[in-house]
Order: sequence, then C-alpha cells, then structure tokens
Amino acid sequence: MNADGRTRLHQTPEWAALAKHREQLGEVRLRELFAADPERGAGWTLRVGDLHVDHSKHLVTDETLRLLRELAVATDVFGLRDAMFRGERINITEDRAVLHTALRAPRDAVIEVDGENVVPKVHAVLDKMAHFADRVRSGEWTGHTGRRIKNVVNVGIGGSDLGPAMAYEALRAFTDRSLTVRFVSNVDGADLHEAVRDLDPAETLFVIASKTFTTIETVTNATSARTWLLDALGDDSAVAKHFVALSTNAQKVADFGIDTANMFEFWDWVGGRYSFDSAIGLSLMIAIGPDRFREMLDGFRIVDEHFRTAPAESNVPLLMGLLGVWYGSFLGAQSHAVLPYSHYLSKFTAYLQQLDMESNGKSVDRDGNPVQWQTGPVVWGTPGTNGQHAYYQLIHQGTKLIPADFIGFARPVGELSDGLKAQHDLLMANFFAQTQALAFGKTPDEVRAEGVPEELVPHKTFRGDHPTTTILAAELTPSVLGQLIALYEHKVFVQGAIWNIDSFDQWGVELGKVLAKRVEPALTDGADVPGLDASTAALVAAYRELRGR
Ligand code: F6P
Repeated sequence: MNADGRTRLHQTPEWAALAKHREQLGEVRLRELFAADPERGAGWTLRVGDLHVDHSKHLVTDETLRLLRELAVATDVFGLRDAMFRGERINITEDRAVLHTALRAPRDAVIEVDGENVVPKVHAVLDKMAHFADRVRSGEWTGHTGRRIKNVVNVGIGGSDLGPAMAYEALRAFTDRSLTVRFVSNVDGADLHEAVRDLDPAETLFVIASKTFTTIETVTNATSARTWLLDALGDDSAVAKHFVALSTNAQKVADFGIDTANMFEFWDWVGGRYSFDSAIGLSLMIAIGPDRFREMLDGFRIVDEHFRTAPAESNVPLLMGLLGVWYGSFLGAQSHAVLPYSHYLSKFTAYLQQLDMESNGKSVDRDGNPVQWQTGPVVWGTPGTNGQHAYYQLIHQGTKLIPADFIGFARPVGELSDGLKAQHDLLMANFFAQTQALAFGKTPDEVRAEGVPEELVPHKTFRGDHPTTTILAAELTPSVLGQLIALYEHKVFVQGAIWNIDSFDQWGVELGKVLAKRVEPALTDGADVPGLDASTAALVAAYRELRGR
C-alpha cells in the first residue's frame, strides 16, 4: 500500500493485466500488425500543435494502449497533472510547487502559490528581460568603456546551461549574427579559456545563470570571468556593466558583487531542469530577440494546453510516457534514443538527458519505499545522419531493444544556399528509410532473393521490430522548439507519475558534490582526508605525483 492508501504499482490489477497481455502477445511482429490493419499508418498519427506524431511503428496493439491508459487512470496521472498546474506542492521531498507551466502562462492567467498569483511576477521578469535584451541588441547598453556589447557569455551548469545552450543552437537561424554567444559550464578552466580567449573584455557581457548561486562550478567560473574582465578594464565598477545574474538568490548575487538591479529573478517553484523558459533564457533572448522568445513560449503553451485538456486517446505526452513504461517495465528496454534529423538540434538530446534522467533516475517511490519496477531509461542519441555511421548498427542488428524517437522537419531553415537546401530531401530520405528499416527489417528470403550466398544470409538479415516514434513538423521555428520541449517535459512527468516517484528533486547529485569538497584539499595541499577509502587515497597519491606535488 502507498501512504495515500493506494495499492503499490506492481500490485495493481492494471499492472497485472499488462503483464498478462505481454505474455499473450508473445513475439510482436510489426509486419503482421501492419498487414492486419491497413489504417495503421495515418490512423496512428496524432497531432499536437505543429507536430505530427506517428506511433504506428511500436510493438503495441490497440489493446496494449487501452491497458496502458487504464494504468494511467489507476495511478491518477491526470490528478497529479491537475495538481501540478494548480500549483500544489507535488515536489514532496523539497516541499515545493512545480510550476514551469506558469512561466509560459498568458498575462491574464491566475496561478496561485501560497495564495499569491505568480503570473504578474512572471510577466514582469519577462518584460524586464525584453527591455534589457533590446538594449543590448540595439547597442544602447554599452560596456564600461562605452563600447558596444558584441559578445555574450553564459556561465551556468545543468539546467542553467543545457537549455539556453541547446536552444541557441536550435534557433541559430533566428539569431543576430553580429553577436557572439557562448556557453561556459565545465569547472575545467579550459572551458572558460576557450570561450573568452579571442574576445575583447570591453565588448563582453557575462550572464551568470544559477538558480541557487551556490553551485561551485558556476561561482568558480564567474569569479575567474570577473578576474579576466578586471585584469583588462582595471576598475571594479566595470562589473556593473559586464555582469548580470539570473537567479532566485538575491543575497548571494549581491555578495558576489553583481548589482541586484541587474538580476533577473525566478522562483523556487521552477526546477533547474525546467527553468530554461524563465530568466535562465536571457542569453537566448538576447540572441533571438524578445519577439522570437515569446513565440517560443507560445509553443510551450500549446502543448501545455494539449496535455491539460486532450482526452487520453489523443494526448501525445501521455502516449509517449505510456510507451516508455511499456518498453521499460514490460519489454525490458534499458535505454531510449532521441535522434533528431536536424543539425540545429545537435544539443537537444543532451538537454533531454538532464530533463529525463535527473527527473526519473530514482529508485524509491514517493513514500520512500524501494521501487519494484524499472524507472527512467538511459537517454542518448546524436543528430542523424551521423549516428547512422556510428551506432545504428547496434540498434539494427544488436541484441538490445532500443526504442527511439526520430525528429525531423519538412523544410530547412536559415539562409542556406539553394544547393544546400536541396540536400534536405536526402537528409529526410535517410530519416524515413531508417524508421522503415528498423520496423520491417529484411527477411532471410528477401536477402536470398538478392543472390546473397547462403553463409552470408544471417549476417545480412535484419530482424526489424525496432520500435520508433516519428515526430515531424514543417520547420524548426521558435514555437516548434517550445512545443518539442514541453512535449518531453510532460512525457517525463507522465512516467514519474506512473512510477510514483518524485520527478522534481535530484538528491542523487549531492553526495558527489560533498565528497569533491572534502577531497579538494588533499589534491591541493596534500591534506589528510579522514576516512578516505584505500582506492581513492591511492589515486589521490598518484595524481599528486603526476602533478609534481
Ligand atoms: O545537477 C544538480 C543541479 O542542481 C541541477 O538540478 C541544476 O540545474 C544545476 O545543478 C545547476 O544549479 P544552479 O542553477 O543552482 O547553479
């Protein structure tokens, strides 16, 4: 039993029904499913906003989907969804509301946290960001010496880096090309060095992004960035014109020396990995301009509304979440590939890694009991077609079940030449060919019919039945990017709700942080670290020797 009196997930009749169904289904062959249902292609495509989502190439029948939806009802996914949208404290271990959806709510919406409508605060910050972004873009905001800002360096890590860095790449075609925008996250000094080595400090703005403003990587890099700036400009007062902060922690921002007038606020009800459409998006807004940023927020909102209101049968984030539960819990899949056929989405999967794995990488349920079922998958992938020449071999002919999402667009964006635009059909031909090959494979008889010698037939046979979702849109616009991100946010939510885990905390990253703090003096000064295990102690000694200490 759960604390709220509900039966634990793996003991529910709906879970048992799915397990039985799995057994009865036996080996699922996509060729057979398609032969039995001529409508399976178009009939299995759902629409949300500008996204066409085809789920026909999944190892499921109508009955599977019906049983999965029953599981969603039994686990009260929609109840938790409504509680999230209402601003209830569904992040139980941190006792916080989870309201990233409020970040893209319209001005006239009313969403209350502790009796206060947060929407006016959200729009006040968005307006402040827009005003600042416009001033930087127009040259009205200048550096300390009066020079125009030409470079923007975002310093942050995790949710304070991955979102804006991903979206900057995704929307490059919409950016002001006269600005250089870079992202520094790694505490490895090489990251900051490479980001600023060819920049002029007098023309550089640092955007220090940290929800807590205590994250060691970010504070260290920000301190080094300040030294770099002051070494060149020689005057402490330069900080005011070259540093702004994005944070929930005004005190720490002030302690660092950034004027809180130059701080763009967000709130503890925005999780780090859900924060990119808050003030954390400032670097992106400077790059693409406030109007494009708002278009992106509109895209998020389209999917929020869909998730909140669409019936279960056509609710796309629900469906994607349920399919993940099916593969993880009933078919033994351990990972999930996200494969965008867009160069501009080169960082999209890395962004999703934090969103999904930090959210659903949990092994106790909301009551603190060990889970008896699989939770979040390993999320991985890189843009096609590069992956085709690297790891697709394993997806096609390896021994692992790897469900994959293919994301593609009908039209290229940006100022490509006609010749480069023409390459788009080739890119998309690969996109369609891969999902086709993965689903339907090539039988031994088909291989033989090509005259392949018998001993090579097993090697050239493709079993098929590798499940994929195809997400297709006309173009990668700011709105479509917002739609895609919200789609995955809500998919992750659905899975966490079913697994009954807290998808909004991240205690698992804490231990490493604490141990790093303890070990650092041993590396630097050879200090004794009480209780250091023998393996780490030997490695620290080797490190010091190699470092010449
Ligand atoms: O990785 C842990 C984490 O807390 C993330 O959840 C967060 O996005 C990241 O660190 C950065 O935190 P902050 O924005 O507070 O610097």
